[in-house]
Amino acid sequence: MARPLATDRAFQYGLIIFSLTALLGLANATQLFGSLDRNTLLTHLHSGTLGWITMGVIGLAAWMFGASGSTAARNVMLSALATAAYVLAFWSGNFQARAVFGTIELVVIVYWWWFTVSSGMREGFGRLDIPKLSVIFGLTTLVIGSTIGVIVQIILGTGNAMPTSPDLVGAHAAAQVGGYLILVAAGAIEWQLAGGGKRTVAGLVQVALLFLGGLILSVSQLLAAQLPATAQQALPGIATLLTLAGAVVVVVRVGRSALAVSWTSGGLRHLAVATGYLLFGVVLFALLVQQFIAAQGDPSKVSIGLLHSVDHVYFVGLMTNIIFGAILVASGDRPRLWPWADNVIFWGLNIGVLSFVAVLLTQGSGEGAKPFASAVAYTAPIMGLSALLGIVTFSMRLMESRQTMRAPAPA
Ligand code: HEM
Repeated sequence: MARPLATDRAFQYGLIIFSLTALLGLANATQLFGSLDRNTLLTHLHSGTLGWITMGVIGLAAWMFGASGSTAARNVMLSALATAAYVLAFWSGNFQARAVFGTIELVVIVYWWWFTVSSGMREGFGRLDIPKLSVIFGLTTLVIGSTIGVIVQIILGTGNAMPTSPDLVGAHAAAQVGGYLILVAAGAIEWQLAGGGKRTVAGLVQVALLFLGGLILSVSQLLAAQLPATAQQALPGIATLLTLAGAVVVVVRVGRSALAVSWTSGGLRHLAVATGYLLFGVVLFALLVQQFIAAQGDPSKVSIGLLHSVDHVYFVGLMTNIIFGAILVASGDRPRLWPWADNVIFWGLNIGVLSFVAVLLTQGSGEGAKPFASAVAYTAPIMGLSALLGIVTFSMRLMESRQTMRAPAPA
């Protein structure tokens, strides 16, 4: 399917915001400016998850569901502006600004959710293929998780104290990571690697397992204090088992296409490697959930190294590979600028994320260490600098590819 202008725009805005994520990541890795404060860490997190990943997902959804025309491109621009404002509100530390811009961001998310649902209704839900169903259910979980997140901002913005129960922050994080990302990732990988159009029983089971896994985990966090002790312990375990089973189905369904890609060039290798991160991420996430259950409400008992490993396996290993791969596929029809950069970006990003995660899992977090004292300072920058090279290279290629598409064919 020809990619619409809205997709290129979403990828371009996402890349711009991702440069802030990578720069703050580099500062955090090297500790050159000392420990980053809470507001800056939240800016690193939300510029990455909303500014980069969700703008990328909007680009993929616009492409998959065919958001043609200049109105779609304008809506992408408004979405990027709203997202950038919310990211800056995190940096400012101003709770009122976070509540206002968080509410606007929620409108953006609901808008794109409705765009996919209404496109799906036009096509007929009974006929939608697995990639489209995955994106629709993934965005549904995003709406649920984001609504909870914005409720948190409104509570804080109106000067109220956060309730200890229900656990809004836990439910928000569980929905976003445990449900939204994994569903959208599974849909995008299948669509790019194997093509759309298929609707099999195994695919439907996969969507159901991943959706229910995320939902049950989020609800079990939200209502933890209201649930009997046995349910408090059992529900997160059941949720992670469902997600794990869903991830295994993904690997079985797309594994053959993933192994068949070229590992020496092209965008598809980013999507193939993302399949491995999907399984790796879910296994680490299951371990993290077990730690949370065992900690019985005491966060100091949870390994920060494991927590940050899960973050980067999902956000960089899984999602950044998917969006970089999609951008390479999208811009691959034209002569490539800096062809040498492709290999540096692919190997650098992946060697970087794997070595960073290995350090986090074996030596723990490097936050608060002296500059260049932790091994994090030598591994995370491989990932950050490769991401920055990707940002510059792909931004230029997307610009050039559009211009060439618009230019009249030579006589
Ligand atoms: C989509 C992209 C990304 C997201 C969403 C993300 C998210 C996060 C989160 C949630 C944390 C934990 C913050 C806290 O509460 O303490 C973190 C820490 C960190 N991030 Fe990222 N990150 C992303 C990309 C990157 C990149 C590209 C780098 C490159 C250098 C990076 C480097 C780091 C480092 C070094 C830490 C501290 C790890 C430790 O020593 O424990 N991140 N990130």
